[in-house]
Amino acid sequence: MISKVTVKAPSSTANLGPGFDVFGLAIDAFYDTITLTKTKSGIKIITDDNIPTNPEKNTAGLVVKNMKKKFKIKDGIEIKIKKGIPAGYGMGSSAASAAATAVAFDKLFGLKLNGNSLVEFAGSGEKASAGTVHYDNVAASVLGGFVIVKTNPLDIIRIEPPTNLRMCIAVPTINVPKKKTKVSRSVIPKKIKLSDSILNLSNAAAIVAGFMKKDSEIIGNSIKDVIVEPARQHMIPGFAKVKENAIKAGALGVTISGAGPSVIAFSKSSANLKKISLAMAKGFASTNTKCQTVICKPSKGAANKRK
Ligand code: HSE
Repeated sequence: MISKVTVKAPSSTANLGPGFDVFGLAIDAFYDTITLTKTKSGIKIITDDNIPTNPEKNTAGLVVKNMKKKFKIKDGIEIKIKKGIPAGYGMGSSAASAAATAVAFDKLFGLKLNGNSLVEFAGSGEKASAGTVHYDNVAASVLGGFVIVKTNPLDIIRIEPPTNLRMCIAVPTINVPKKKTKVSRSVIPKKIKLSDSILNLSNAAAIVAGFMKKDSEIIGNSIKDVIVEPARQHMIPGFAKVKENAIKAGALGVTISGAGPSVIAFSKSSANLKKISLAMAKGFASTNTKCQTVICKPSKGAANKRK
């Protein structure tokens, strides 16, 4: 009988421009690590990171609580959390902890859940930090690669990304509001123009085609969003300059990573990725904002053996 399981889950970028709440991509920039150990009773969280340790307020704690209840498991669980993903910067940090926990719980109790169920449980935990459930980050973090989230009923379609797809991420060193995702969702328009919806839909369709055809140029050239990005960009100091600089340095497409404030540029392994990263950092510097830049590629998911 297994009594302890450790699982690593990757960071992720949600939306990829026009695919708001629908597209997600697992990226190898950062990882969270979760270790679940069976105990006599209760749920206990152990961490050196600055996150809530009350299981009701912690994404991993909520996943364990929900899965324990669903599968009528009497054992107690100790949850050890090691955060590698900066929290609140649009890199799927809370989703990764939830994803790793769902996969670890599944292994610990031999549940053999399918991908959709794992994503559903991980999503139920992410509610702790985001307020609402949206599965784009958790689906990417659980399954890896590029994911399309269909809802009602939940069904995740996963596509293996092209091997030459590369991203440059700039994580600005700014203070983010406590309920950042909630705040950045509150600025999105409730009604949109049909012409904007057509533009976004055409680019979203092209992104899916790009992943299917393993064509990074189509993907990068279609990272264009005329609905959510314009409404959110004021929350990111220097966004327009960061984007302009990255494109000038050779990026194919640039957008906000998830709910921000990180900015992500899409490119290919053959491009000068260092030049793009430097250009993005200079964009942030134009508003006296420091940033951390990371060059990365698509990642496998926490449950990568279970495609
Ligand atoms: N799709 C979500 C949003 C991702 O953009 O609000 C944030 O976690």
